[in-house]
Amino acid sequence: MDIPILLCKEEERKQKHEDSSLTFGKDFTDHMFFMHFKEGKWQDPRIIPYQSFEMDPACSVLHYSQEIFEGMKAFRHPDGSIHMFRPYENAERMNISAERMCMPNINKDLFVKAITELIRVDNEWVPNSPGTSLYIRPTMIASETFIGLRPSEEFYFYVILAPVGPFFKDGFQPTKAYVAVENVRAAPGGTGEAKTGGNYAATLYETKKARELGYPMVIWLDSLERKYVEEGSAMNIMFVIDGEIYTPKLDGTILRGITRESVIEIANKMGYSTHEENLDINVLVEQITNGTCSEAFFVGTAASITPIGKIFFNNQEYVINDNEVGDITQRLYDELVGIQTGKVQDEFNWNYKVA
Ligand code: COI
Repeated sequence: MDIPILLCKEEERKQKHEDSSLTFGKDFTDHMFFMHFKEGKWQDPRIIPYQSFEMDPACSVLHYSQEIFEGMKAFRHPDGSIHMFRPYENAERMNISAERMCMPNINKDLFVKAITELIRVDNEWVPNSPGTSLYIRPTMIASETFIGLRPSEEFYFYVILAPVGPFFKDGFQPTKAYVAVENVRAAPGGTGEAKTGGNYAATLYETKKARELGYPMVIWLDSLERKYVEEGSAMNIMFVIDGEIYTPKLDGTILRGITRESVIEIANKMGYSTHEENLDINVLVEQITNGTCSEAFFVGTAASITPIGKIFFNNQEYVINDNEVGDITQRLYDELVGIQTGKVQDEFNWNYKVA
């Protein structure tokens, strides 16, 4: 399918920042992809100048949060070419989220083609320096105008692109995490596994509290027993215990992270044992104290791999690996980012060439 392109006027083009001054999620490129679901089908896919929507105040997403999104990245390789990381995995996950949220599927080839064409149009926006990338945000929202609780029959699907620097301003440095003991992010049977805005809104209250105490990140516990670690603020989490890698198992309340999956595959290939199981926070803090848990890190598209240096749980702070980046964390980071940026051979065939 051909995707018509309407380019923005020369004088409407935005000013690009130097790679060195890029932050996360503040700048957006000149164009976006847009299509509309109406009368039972996706209609009129097109690339258009980046623009605001006009929305009726009764638009259903504004009331009932029927929305899903994805987080993906494209990287510039040393030869100047541009590659997305595992885009078909995001297409697949978007459709799983869509199913849970009563929203229409998108043909996976169309999803990937739309983003590919959009990146080609805005290729000059893909940064080049270490620690930078093009963050891709496909989003679907319920666009029908009504009040009353039922699935919308109309949707917008759009993709915007953001040239980004590191998610954390200090880059690949240990961060601090606060274990939420008062509230939970998701419960069995809920929407925790879907990449839907409500899950993120549910994290804001504890995150605000954590930040007031100096902890940028939150660790979520399960809703039933309030002791099993589920995930980090908006990303998955892993621990190194006795030299082996542990991460909470996917049980429907945890996002099926594509970075999570990739790190497990990389770790297995490097010869580390990996385990997906319930991890009790009480046991983990004991293991941190006695040194058997020697490393911990968050994994996600936006933040890649981010080491955790300190964990605050029940009024006590636990320091991991003297608040230094651990060897295994570093090796996994070098391999993952190396593959993504074309500096390490992509034996998994994860990179998808865009231009
Ligand atoms: C991502 O890792 O891509 C996310 O969606 C998390 C968000 C907080 C940027």
